[in-house]
Amino acid sequence: MLTTLPSTGTDWETLRSELIEMKKLDVDWRRGRLPAYIYYYDENLRQVQSEAYALYGVENALGAGKVFKSLTAMLADIGGMAFDLFHAPAGAGMSFTSGGTESLFEAIKTARKFFRIKHPGHSGPLNLVAPMTAHPAVNKAGEILDVDIRRIEVGPEHRADVDAMAAAVDGNTIMIFGSAPCFTFGVFDPIAALGRLALERGLWLHVDGCWGGFISPFAKRLGYPIPDWDLAVPGVTSMSADIHKFGFASKGASLLVFRDEAMKAYERFEYGSSWAKGTYVTPTFLGSRPAGAIASAWAVMRYLGWEGYMATTKATMDATMGFIRGIDAIPGLRCLRPNGESNLFGFVSNDPAVDIMAVADLLDKKGWATGRLHRPLGIQQGVNPVHLPIVGEYLDDVREAVEQVRASGQTGAFKDGTY
Ligand SMILES: Cc1ncc(COP(=O)(O)O)c(C=O)c1O
Repeated sequence: MLTTLPSTGTDWETLRSELIEMKKLDVDWRRGRLPAYIYYYDENLRQVQSEAYALYGVENALGAGKVFKSLTAMLADIGGMAFDLFHAPAGAGMSFTSGGTESLFEAIKTARKFFRIKHPGHSGPLNLVAPMTAHPAVNKAGEILDVDIRRIEVGPEHRADVDAMAAAVDGNTIMIFGSAPCFTFGVFDPIAALGRLALERGLWLHVDGCWGGFISPFAKRLGYPIPDWDLAVPGVTSMSADIHKFGFASKGASLLVFRDEAMKAYERFEYGSSWAKGTYVTPTFLGSRPAGAIASAWAVMRYLGWEGYMATTKATMDATMGFIRGIDAIPGLRCLRPNGESNLFGFVSNDPAVDIMAVADLLDKKGWATGRLHRPLGIQQGVNPVHLPIVGEYLDDVREAVEQVRASGQTGAFKDGTY
């Protein structure tokens, strides 16, 4: 560990070797040991992603539209591709953000401002109604923006209970929220029904497609049972989709898409003329923004196109279905829904002699970083193409762990903070 800034510099070759060496400290994601964080297809794609980022490693997207016209052009292309992919009507608007968390934050901040303008003089405490399965970034935004997050119990398949959500809506509700799919179980909330509720009650509906946005359109074309979830659904006001997940861009890339571009006026931040340099404007939360993330997203989306995304999605869904079928065939285990709706799933024990947390502990010991659920107790796995070659190896280890737990009576406990 360094304790001071070195007085002289170190050559890049040495540093490069050190970085490669340091990676040995990490979980071996290339061998599919991680259930999240990593979205990787092959070295060619990684090269495009990284070189595009590096080409714009110095530019600053705060200057997009002013001094970096190339970034404005790239953002227009990304918007055009996204509008088509997500069935946006004419007049839609898009913001490029640093990730799912910022997209959700910006959606909620914009809905809050829109609500205040629509209801002048409104003074009550504001709230947002979301299913229990919504990503915690919603609560992070609520904490910062002083919006109470009303999390409502979900129905039997872990999908939003629309009637219960409707009952929780009141005159202080700035937004209703659905996931497509949620990160916990990989199921889609009933977006069409939420859209009807939004239209009936004049509510802002945000659909969180951060995980699924860049996999669902392609999985649907491959024949997987993906429900309608994007701007094709009447009543959806805004949606988010992360290019830095299954879009395979470098980290720092997500999209917030508004049905109506006019909403961007409520999103932008402007600090007025009293500042010595005059008016300062940002479209999203960040000030200086990584131009590399925009260049990487632009390059990767063009490099892959429909054909490439169909290939990355096929590899991902083949691996997912391999896991699900294999786990369902292991006596004592049962996969939670969905089957083929997304590349995220959970599994639980249906045998009292098999403690699923003990199974997770054994898998951890075998080098798998095991994602855990606690409502219900289970194991959660997000799938990306690196998992395809190791499906059989994982299933063998799960089978062995289940047999060992059944034979030994070993028990385990839920651990917080896993993937
Ligand atoms: C459904 C969903 N929403 C939001 C997020 C937050 O995204 P990020 O980690 O890019 O901020 C995630 C991350 O996994 C997610 O799966």
